[in-house]
Amino acid sequence: MRVLVSGGAGFIGSHTVVQLVAAGHDVVVVDSFVNAKPSVVARIEALTGQPLPLHAFDLTDRDKTEHLFSTEDIDAVIHFAGLKAVGESTERPLDYYENNLGTTFSLLRAMERHGVSRMVFSSSATVYGAQAPVPMHEDLPTSATNPYGWSKVMQEQVFRDVAAANPHWRIALLRYFNPVGAHPSGTMGEDPSDIPNNLMPYIAQVAVGRRDRLGVFGADYPTPDGTGVRDYIHVEDLAAGHIAALHRLTQVDDPVSVWNLGTGHGTSVLELLHAFERACGRELPYEILPRRPGDIAASYADPTRAHTELGWRAEKTVDDMCADTWRWQSQNPEGYPE
Ligand code: WQD
Repeated sequence: MRVLVSGGAGFIGSHTVVQLVAAGHDVVVVDSFVNAKPSVVARIEALTGQPLPLHAFDLTDRDKTEHLFSTEDIDAVIHFAGLKAVGESTERPLDYYENNLGTTFSLLRAMERHGVSRMVFSSSATVYGAQAPVPMHEDLPTSATNPYGWSKVMQEQVFRDVAAANPHWRIALLRYFNPVGAHPSGTMGEDPSDIPNNLMPYIAQVAVGRRDRLGVFGADYPTPDGTGVRDYIHVEDLAAGHIAALHRLTQVDDPVSVWNLGTGHGTSVLELLHAFERACGRELPYEILPRRPGDIAASYADPTRAHTELGWRAEKTVDDMCADTWRWQSQNPEGYPE
């Protein structure tokens, strides 16, 4: 299939692009580069062995989006593009709603005009809200505690309503748990633009000497070692989940399908830190700090539906995630070149 990947220069997008090409798909990327460096394109091309068709603009621009669909013969869309920092979203709610919903509206309008009805959407376990029981199942109600999370809840609702009005749609809502890791080559990985909000890139920057120590946000949670528990999933497994969902959309009758992409296992902050110490071969300094507002104690997936319906299962271990992250970070201490 000829697949348009929005946000294809981003962390999960770039890894998915490489796997799509390896799976024999034609790929076209659109990215505004608001959260990605152009130098990632060369890394993608080195791994795929071919030039990457790329459109560099913001998808909220309806005219440019229409022009893209008029000139590229798209069969399906994988939609990663979006702002995704929880803390930032509470400071800039309007930017988050305008961008995350606006890109989705623009894509759906163009897809309708051009008869493109297959969409794989980058959703998030954040839509389970703060009170969800673990392991989290797709039939749980959705809610959020910040504008980023609400933008995902709202986008899922938009997809459901659009599909209800026109059942020819085939839409996959993929709820990621905690994406981490890097391409095994060490040439692609997570490259936060500022101080990392997320745990794994922060640990990696401590290991490579860019940060003094890890601040552990709370050690008094009702978890085995008191620190927060999450379902970390390797970005390579996550990318494979998108390929499986894209294929599944050619078979399902339901206009909208929801799948968790997680391992089903929880790992604590200190467990991840010690796994990273094994990967980088040295002790990493940390200090216990107060809880981060809005954090929940534990989050991990019930991945059964993805196993049975997608024939997909996360294969990589936490040690694989740390080893691949360390290879990427040690080979690219400052991330992608400016
Ligand atoms: C993981 C654990 C922290 C940093 C967020 C978004 C979610 C998704 C993934 C987009 C928690 C602890 C963290 C640090 C720490 N993003 N921590 N010190 O919060 O589970 O999920 O990112 O889809 O939507 O909400 O991930 O990596 O920020 O935190 O102790 O410096 O690590 O308290 O327990 P989170 P995280």
